[in-house]
Amino acid sequence: MSKLKVGIVGVGGIARTHIPGWHASEHAELVAGSDIGEDVLNRFGEENGVDKLHADPEALFSDSDIDIIDICTPSMYHAPLAIAALEAGKHVICEKPLAPTPDDIRRMIEARDKSGKTLMTAQHFRFQGSSKAMKDELDTGALGDIYHARSWMLRRAGAPTGGGFIIKENSGGGPCIDIGVHILDLTLWFMGNPEPVAVTGVARAELAHQEGVFSQWGRQPIPENFNVEDFAAAFVRFDNGATLIIEVSWLLHHNTQGEDMQMWLYGTEGGAHWPKCEIYESNNQTRQQYNRELKLMHAGLEAHAQECVEFAAAVAAGNPSPVPAEESLQVLKILDGIYRSQAQGGEVKLD
Ligand SMILES: NC(=O)c1ccc[n+]([C@@H]2O[C@H](COP(=O)([O-])OP(=O)(O)OC[C@H]3O[C@@H](n4cnc5c(N)ncnc54)[C@H](O)[C@@H]3O)[C@@H](O)[C@H]2O)c1
Repeated sequence: MSKLKVGIVGVGGIARTHIPGWHASEHAELVAGSDIGEDVLNRFGEENGVDKLHADPEALFSDSDIDIIDICTPSMYHAPLAIAALEAGKHVICEKPLAPTPDDIRRMIEARDKSGKTLMTAQHFRFQGSSKAMKDELDTGALGDIYHARSWMLRRAGAPTGGGFIIKENSGGGPCIDIGVHILDLTLWFMGNPEPVAVTGVARAELAHQEGVFSQWGRQPIPENFNVEDFAAAFVRFDNGATLIIEVSWLLHHNTQGEDMQMWLYGTEGGAHWPKCEIYESNNQTRQQYNRELKLMHAGLEAHAQECVEFAAAVAAGNPSPVPAEESLQVLKILDGIYRSQAQGGEVKLD
């Protein structure tokens, strides 16, 4: 069986975590790379034995030998690159956020449907053992109807300092777009992807402009051109009546080093915590309460690599995308709703 040929666009950063997945896949092989940085592209070629190297991604899209395009560029390039790749007849896996706005994602879905190819968002948290164990448990209906969730992804002095993240014109937003997509994608997936219908949110820079404020990564000062939120919180309503409270921040006086990422799910038959992977239940007849721990599954490779393995397997088998673009559209509708709610000062309806 011949393998699917993969070309990566943007080989310098997060792409490095995808490469072990392409090397491990029984369905795909890495054959090409594109990057605007010449040095980084040449290093990628040498390290991976890849000789199709082009500064212009178009050269990969027009190469009839290539089946899969893996987009790992900064987020504002995701939609134009993915649409061009789909129009050229390629399957596309694209780093998160799939795109910075819901309209971008709608255009990507349209291009995907016209091409008949597969489009997946690289939401690697779904491919961790703790996430797979929790999703399998929830799919049994163990919690009954999930009517409320609380989730957060909070960092203490954990703001990136690069312009690709902290300048809105480049990134589309701050922690909402950078890390909100992770915790929101996972929460919605666990809830069964109900349709979000309304959001009340705030998204503000509370600490980023204080004198001397720093990021713990290298103790670097936060650059003055920081123009995104550093904190956001929201209350979300879904079409099935469920609700969600979410909080995200890069800079918060919070009792954690690194990152605090948690989720609580509340259903009519039980509750759950991720990533502890605990289930909380009661027996109303005996009036007893039970807590049980889920058995963690072996997820395979590190999650960023595992997602590439599972994408290639889905494409090879003609199966649906492991992370459909429609689910990323739900995530971006909520994040866009948070920004609109901040601007309007009240609840906004989502379409
Ligand atoms: N899933 C995760 O855990 C995770 C972590 C970090 C970043 N990301 C996402 O990955 C993407 C890239 O982030 P990063 O941190 O790797 O950035 P980066 O700047 O470190 O790397 C991006 C690479 O893309 C190249 N590039 C930029 N524009 C290009 C273009 N138009 N054509 C070809 N190459 C281009 C750059 O030269 C660089 O080598 C972002 O969308 C980000 O949100 C995901």
